[in-house]
Amino acid sequence: MIEGELKVIDESRQGESITMESKGKSSSKKLFLESYGCSMNFADSEVVAAILIGQGFETTKDMNDADVIFVNTCAIRDNAEQKIRSRLFEFKKAKKNKPGMIIGILGCMAERLKSKLLEEEKLVDIVAGPDSYRDLPNLLVQVENGHRAVNVLLSREETYADISPVRLDKNGVTAFVSIMRGCDNMCSFCVVPFTRGRERSRDPESIINEAKQLFEDGYREVTLLGQNVDSYLWWGGGQKKELAVETVHAALNHLLKPEEQSKYTTFADLLELVAQVNPELRVRFSTSNPRDMTDAVLHSMTKYENICKYIHLPVQSGNSRVLAKMNRGYSREDYIKRIESIRVIMPECSISTDIITGFCSETEEEHQDTLSLMKWSKYFYAYMFSYSERPGTAAEKKFEDDISTEVKARRLQEIVDLQRLLSEEQTKLGLGKIHRVLIESISKKSTDMFCGRNTQNTVVVFPKGNHKRGDYVNVLATNCTSATLIGEVIS
Ligand code: 5AD
Ligand code: SF4
Repeated sequence: MIEGELKVIDESRQGESITMESKGKSSSKKLFLESYGCSMNFADSEVVAAILIGQGFETTKDMNDADVIFVNTCAIRDNAEQKIRSRLFEFKKAKKNKPGMIIGILGCMAERLKSKLLEEEKLVDIVAGPDSYRDLPNLLVQVENGHRAVNVLLSREETYADISPVRLDKNGVTAFVSIMRGCDNMCSFCVVPFTRGRERSRDPESIINEAKQLFEDGYREVTLLGQNVDSYLWWGGGQKKELAVETVHAALNHLLKPEEQSKYTTFADLLELVAQVNPELRVRFSTSNPRDMTDAVLHSMTKYENICKYIHLPVQSGNSRVLAKMNRGYSREDYIKRIESIRVIMPECSISTDIITGFCSETEEEHQDTLSLMKWSKYFYAYMFSYSERPGTAAEKKFEDDISTEVKARRLQEIVDLQRLLSEEQTKLGLGKIHRVLIESISKKSTDMFCGRNTQNTVVVFPKGNHKRGDYVNVLATNCTSATLIGEVIS
């Protein structure tokens, strides 16, 4: 994984864990909440915290002090699950020293393994899938009454729209806002459609109100989150599942007559509505899917200065046969056309990606296609993974995981090495230029420096001066590392 000092977004956070702390109103019981995986999981943990704080909990950073330990989990690759398993054994030890402590596993791994986690290993008391967090207070009561508790029901409606997340991972400047849940894409390698269920969009009014509240609370950047933001669709009657397929297609692509189109809120519309909350509120989003991204979204991005000129556009592979086998719904040529549109409509836009190496039957030539597409695309960043077979997915059922661990690792190293060069090249292009930077935090490398990002999501580091978090400053970049610009504020 190549990262600068950036506030990592979405999938970049796979495998990283964050422990969260916040105070409740009445502070009788203590919750230790640890999160793994994608940004969506981190956003979900803020919903979980809101629900429990509403029940009189306060959070703690010390697991030995906790009455309840919840771990919000990821199932996307086997190594994510292994890491969480070993953590569960540590929690079990803490429980030995504090009888009565309740341990719950939440999120994608809970959904995937269901009650197996209770029966086989007796590591946890509660298993709760991503759509069952409203039920957590009941599940806790069940455990207090001597039962083990499971809720892994997936919903077609739940979006937690009415719950105000408690901001836990706080710099007080940037926040995640979930705009939809689930995924209908069924990429053949991916476990997400099974663990997070069917795609559903959140009511735009609740999204805009959340963004307004964040701005009032001093936040200056929101990242709109969904597994596939381009298929966001809301209409007066509710979810898109009640609409005919042709209507959905026409509405998403803005092909309807204006009076008809105005009944729908697409992602392009939503972006504009959020951008209008305040010109000083930056808007980012993730993740875009090359299959569904429309030019309408690109045009909305150009209309508003505060919509950041950065798109995370996972390619997964540069070869059309592999892409078809992955069921991604686009070819190498389609992907190239997407990027060409981005370049024509928004030449200054930066692009990052996700890549999987060693997918079932991938040949050396097909791997070379990925390398050549990376060079052509000139990615600013990439999140790169070896293929990990996931039980229950189409790839596991239909294809052999026939690329050896060594070959996967070697191919991965080749793409990581290439990406390092590409990142360096793209970062260098920012030298000698003035960047508008939103200050997020003190730099990890020096307490005398601040750190923020420019519109293209490149991390920029500069001396603190009299500035403060949440300020916008203009920084002239004079130096750089492979993924970070270094400079000075100019008036
Ligand atoms: N093996 C490896 N990487 C995967 N991803 C999703 N499923 C798998 C898998 N089975 C990667 C994809 C996706 C990112 C979130 O994780 O690149 O875009
Ligand atoms: Fe998984 Fe594909 Fe959905 Fe992304 S778009 S969550 S890779 S199924």
